[in-house]
Amino acid sequence: MPGIYFVTLLEAGRARKELATKNLVKGYSVYGEPLVRVNGEEYRIWIPYRSKLAAFIVKGFRGDFIRPGSRVLYLGAAQGTTVSHVSDVIGNTGIIYAIEISSRAMTELLSVTAKKKNIVPLLADARRPESYMTNVSQVDYLYCDVAQPNQSELFLQNARYYLKSGGKGMIAIKARSIDVVADPRKVFAQERLALKAGGFKIVQESELEPFEKDHLIIYGEWKG
Ligand SMILES: C[S@@+](CC[C@H](N)C(=O)[O-])C[C@H]1O[C@@H](n2cnc3c(N)ncnc32)[C@H](O)[C@@H]1O
Repeated sequence: MPGIYFVTLLEAGRARKELATKNLVKGYSVYGEPLVRVNGEEYRIWIPYRSKLAAFIVKGFRGDFIRPGSRVLYLGAAQGTTVSHVSDVIGNTGIIYAIEISSRAMTELLSVTAKKKNIVPLLADARRPESYMTNVSQVDYLYCDVAQPNQSELFLQNARYYLKSGGKGMIAIKARSIDVVADPRKVFAQERLALKAGGFKIVQESELEPFEKDHLIIYGEWKG
């Protein structure tokens, strides 16, 4: 996938492959991830235990999702761990609108966006996509990781406003945020149905074990 790499590291004489992105801001490590040099280029190791998108890729996702120059709407930016890697991938010709409801998380996100200029941080509630209409324009890709009970509806609402027809979306579903006691598989089935009924064509999905328990990522195409 363009902008996403597997680098081979040697440790105690053994080769190990790690997911990585090329560092857009040389020497800058965002969340303590190792920086490594390969053929004169600096890469940031993208840790699947810290990022569900990384976990999905490590578990085999190879579809069309973010590339240099992409426009991305990211719901649930938190402190910017995954956002920072998306920023590396899309480069200086792309843009990420990073929506986050918590002002505490936003404070940390702002220290990332001070360095990485392709991120537009927005302190906003993703349940109200109309509230950021003046700041966000149409995007190629929508990523949603808000760990909320009404996630699928929130994802669809944002797709209706901002995702271009034929654009791609990805939603990380945490079963326990939707129903603490239900069987996660039942929760996932219910979310799949809601997404399909809302105009989202599911293309690929994966549970995220061993990186995250009771989480599923669903990827697909917006037909709305
Ligand atoms: C699991 S964390 C996201 C982690 C992040 N995506 C990453 O990989 O680095 C979920 C985030 O969603 C935010 N959130 C929850 N409800 C939200 C809402 N309605 N609108 C925007 N953000 C929300 C939380 O404050 C939290 O920071």
